[in-house]
Amino acid sequence: MSSMTKGIVAANLTQTYSAGRKIWGPRESFHAVDRVNLTIAEGETVGIVGESGSGKSTLGRMIAGIENPTSGSVTFWGQPYAKVGTPEWRRQRRDVQVVFQNPAAVVDPRWSIHAQVKEALSTHERLPTLEADDRAEAMLDMVGLGAMGKRLPHQLSGGQLQRAVIARALVLNPRLVVCDEAVSALDVSVQAQIINLLLELRERLNLSLMFISHDLSVVRHISHRVGVMHAGRLLEIGESSTLFDRPRHEYTRRLLAAIPADSPRLRRQRDMQSFGGASVASTPISPALS
Ligand SMILES: Nc1ncnc2c1ncn2[C@@H]1O[C@H](COP(=O)(O)OP(=O)(O)OP(=O)(O)O)[C@@H](O)[C@H]1O
Ligand SMILES: [Mg+2]
Repeated sequence: MSSMTKGIVAANLTQTYSAGRKIWGPRESFHAVDRVNLTIAEGETVGIVGESGSGKSTLGRMIAGIENPTSGSVTFWGQPYAKVGTPEWRRQRRDVQVVFQNPAAVVDPRWSIHAQVKEALSTHERLPTLEADDRAEAMLDMVGLGAMGKRLPHQLSGGQLQRAVIARALVLNPRLVVCDEAVSALDVSVQAQIINLLLELRERLNLSLMFISHDLSVVRHISHRVGVMHAGRLLEIGESSTLFDRPRHEYTRRLLAAIPADSPRLRRQRDMQSFGGASVASTPISPALS
C-alpha cells in the first residue's frame, strides 16, 4: 500500500513493556508487540487471533491510536497518527472508535443512552441540539434501540448495552472500528445478533474493522483476512478461508485444532455467504455452534 491508500498501514509496529523491576541490575523489558506489519483496507475486516498474552490487545490499541508505539508507525488514510494527547490526536479520535468486551464499564450509569450517544457527537461537533437529537435517535434506530433511548444503562440487557456502545461509536462516522473481544461476554444468540449488526453497519458505512477475538469461528465468519499473533509477532496473515483451511505454520494449525470441527450447518451458512453482499446482514448465524 502506498501512503495515499485508503486504509490503515502499520509498519514495524513494536511495543515494549517493562517486565518488572529487579532490585539490582537494569530494568528488564519485553516486546508485547514485535515489528508487526499490517494493513487494513477501507471496508475491510481483519480478524486477529492468538492465545492469551500474544499481544492482540496491545496491537489493537496501537492501531486504534490510543497508545503510542515504542517504535514503528501507523498511517491512517495517508496521515501518520499524532502523539497521544496532542490537539491533532484529539481531532483524529473521531475517525477511530474502539469497542471492548464490557459495555457496562464504558458507559455512564447516570445518563440515558440517548444522552450518551448525543454527548459523543457534541464532543466532536458543534451541532444545534435538535440536530444532535435527531442524529442520536437515527443511530439508536440503526442498532435496533429506537424505542429505548430514554433508558439508563442498568435498564438494558448486556447485548442491548453493547448495541448502545456501538451506536455511540458509530454516530461519529468513524472510518475504523477496533473490536477487542466485543462479543465475548455475550450469550451465543446475542453474539450472533451483534455480529450481524456489525456486518450490516460495515456495509452501510463502508467501515474498516479490526476484529480481535479468541473465538475462531466468529473471526472466520466476520473477517476477510485473519492474522495470527504469537508472542508479539504476526506469525501469518491471509485470506480467511485460506488461513483456516491451509494454515502455513504449525502453530496456527495447533491453534485451529483447538476448536471443534465445522458443523455441516455452519459450513452451509458460510458457503451461502458472500462478504461483499448486503444479504449477509439478514442471515442468522450461530457462531459458536457445533
Ligand atoms: N500496560 C502494560 N504494561 C505491561 N505489560 C503489559 C501491558 N499491557 C499488556 N502487557 C503484557 O503484554 C503482553 C500482551 O498483552 P495483550 O493484552 O496485548 O495480550 P492479548 O493477546 O490481548 O491477551 P488476551 O487474549 O488475554 O486478551 C502480555 O504479556 C501482557 O501481560
Ligand atoms: Mg486482549
